[in-house]
Amino acid sequence: MSRIAYVNGQYLPHRDASVHIEDRGYQFADGVYEVVTIVGSRMIDEEGHLDRLWRSLGELRIDAPMKREPLKMVMREVIRQNGIRDGIIYLQVTRGVAPRDHPFPDDIPTSLVMTAKRLSMEKAAKKAQEGVSVITVPDIRWTRRDIKSVSLLPNVLAKQEAKENGAYEAFQVDEDGMVTEGSSTNAWIVSKEGKIVTRPTSNSILAGITRASLIRELEKNGIELELRSFSVEELLSAREVFITSSTSYVLPVVKVDDQVIGNGHPGLISLKLRKIYEKFMSADA
Ligand code: PDD
Repeated sequence: MSRIAYVNGQYLPHRDASVHIEDRGYQFADGVYEVVTIVGSRMIDEEGHLDRLWRSLGELRIDAPMKREPLKMVMREVIRQNGIRDGIIYLQVTRGVAPRDHPFPDDIPTSLVMTAKRLSMEKAAKKAQEGVSVITVPDIRWTRRDIKSVSLLPNVLAKQEAKENGAYEAFQVDEDGMVTEGSSTNAWIVSKEGKIVTRPTSNSILAGITRASLIRELEKNGIELELRSFSVEELLSAREVFITSSTSYVLPVVKVDDQVIGNGHPGLISLKLRKIYEKFMSADA
């Protein structure tokens, strides 16, 4: 089945889909995005992602491209036309097309683009069984990391550094030596004392939808959680480390920089939380 992209009202073959050279997303990174997991052809946490999209748009004063219900219909149609069972849908909204000038242009329609792609659940499960490694890098981003903006250059540089070091992810570290989050994931540890710890939401991190759903599932299962920042030092001496995101779900980390975590295999708590999250996904899908 050939890939189809949605671009401003049209469903187009992926290879022919394009936007104007003066789209402000292209020139100023003046836009926002969402990545939603698809399991069994259904979106996981659809409402949470749409709430966050509307919040990001509001913070940047970009008009919504359409009302929520029609947007959901387009998302479903993109999934259907691409025949996706398991994968992701990518949504991008920019302020629109206008001659290049920094201030907001008057009265132009926002641009909306959607693509979808398949992901292998088997490959993802294998990665979780083995665990991944991460490196630490300085957090060089702006102070509105709560907005899911397409301005991702620091994240791109961090992920590239991870790749060049044979790692899956880079944890970004703030000026106080505390971990903020991964380049495209939220960061968690199981502390030396056996407590599950993740940073509270603020402007310093993206409020991950996977993170929020896992917290809800922890509460339902009566599992204790500490919402606080943790340092690189605490990270390196943690019993377990894991990450969450729409594409990683709950993914155990077995090495940070040169430090092996635990016995070098995915921790039992991390694997249990992945199971809990998988169960949640099959109920939501
Ligand atoms: N990234 N932190 C950052 C900086 C992110 O970019 C993401 C998501 C997350 C996790 O959020 P969620 O659980 O809602 O996916 C945390 C997406 C997957 C991406 O950029 O591809």
